[in-house]
Amino acid sequence: MTLRKIVQPQQTARILGIETSCDETAASVIENGRAILSSVVATQIEIHKKYGGVFPEVASRQHIRTIYAVIEQALQQAHLGIGDIDAIAVTRGPGLAGSLVVGMNAAKGLALGHDIPLIGVNHLEGHIYSAWVYPADTIEPPPEPQFPLLALLVSGGHTELNLMHDHLQYKRLGATLDDAAGEAFDKVARMLDLSYPGGPSIQSAADEGDPTAFNFPRSRLDGTWDFSFSGLKTAVLRVVRKLEDSHRPIPVANLAASFQAAVVDVLFSKTMKAAKEFDVKELVVAGGVSANRVLRDAFLKQTDFPIHIPPLSLCTDNGAMIGAAGYYHFAFGHRDPLNLDVLPTWPLS
Ligand SMILES: Nc1ncnc2c1ncn2[C@@H]1O[C@H](COP(=O)(O)OP(=O)(O)OP(=O)(O)O)[C@@H](O)[C@H]1O
Ligand SMILES: [Mg+2]
Repeated sequence: MTLRKIVQPQQTARILGIETSCDETAASVIENGRAILSSVVATQIEIHKKYGGVFPEVASRQHIRTIYAVIEQALQQAHLGIGDIDAIAVTRGPGLAGSLVVGMNAAKGLALGHDIPLIGVNHLEGHIYSAWVYPADTIEPPPEPQFPLLALLVSGGHTELNLMHDHLQYKRLGATLDDAAGEAFDKVARMLDLSYPGGPSIQSAADEGDPTAFNFPRSRLDGTWDFSFSGLKTAVLRVVRKLEDSHRPIPVANLAASFQAAVVDVLFSKTMKAAKEFDVKELVVAGGVSANRVLRDAFLKQTDFPIHIPPLSLCTDNGAMIGAAGYYHFAFGHRDPLNLDVLPTWPLS
């Protein structure tokens, strides 16, 4: 399918992006798909910390409490009123049903009340489009990702490689067969008694450790573009249990560093192999795990392949990425009806 852009280059389109798929209530105003006029994220991390993970019912109640203030703040920071908005893009899925409906209902209310087009966006597509955006006051905007490109999406619930030949066109080459990379970080952090979310705590524990201390297995699944992290996770668990059983201290830093090295090794090597095999021009690495410093260093320092990785603030869930993806849908003429439903499970391709 070839998409024809119907927004003319001289036109300015401002999209309000709304994201509530998990534990971040977020809204942003994006101009022409790339310039961030505002981005507000109200995180619930402190609330869910005591549960060791996201408590869905608590998450949706918290979204209800904050959603309108977050949207209002996003408009204020952009110095715009709702009447200046050309379309409202909202995460339709995948995510927690009770959380998604809060953002969806807020978006529908605004769309109906102010007669603004509504566009449902896939959260995973949003993560990929976080590689397009930059703060509006940037003097020299970063170059736009060029097609064909390969997108590695590494987040809390997903790990997949998507080939893109054009905007909004995704061909999934492979995905995790079990745990997502972020999920593995979160589970291993729990084993090591590190706090939620696991990614940042493993990363800081790993800073003090030796990545070669444990030679953990790397599931390469050669001949496919799939990933698997459950064997690695179990290998860490086995070491922890053995040490506990023999009442020996747990070398948390070395375990964290060796686990992190194994995850990064597999993600980096497989992605680079696919980039060569499919002869893509550029790479996008996005999703919460793309905030990981060792992963970023691998992609940014170990190869001179053109790679787009969003800034740290846009790796985890935010409204800017939804506004950016929403812009391209808007520009290509997509509009959704006001009875649009959320899709808690919604593959990208
Ligand atoms: N520095 C880091 N290193 C490794 N992992 C990280 C880091 N920072 C965040 N993460 C991981 O990123 C995940 C959160 O990312 P994100 O918000 O994209 O996931 P999600 O929205 O919950 O899942 P999905 O996007 O798949 O629906 C968590 O698993 C977290 O541990
Ligand atoms: Mg996410």
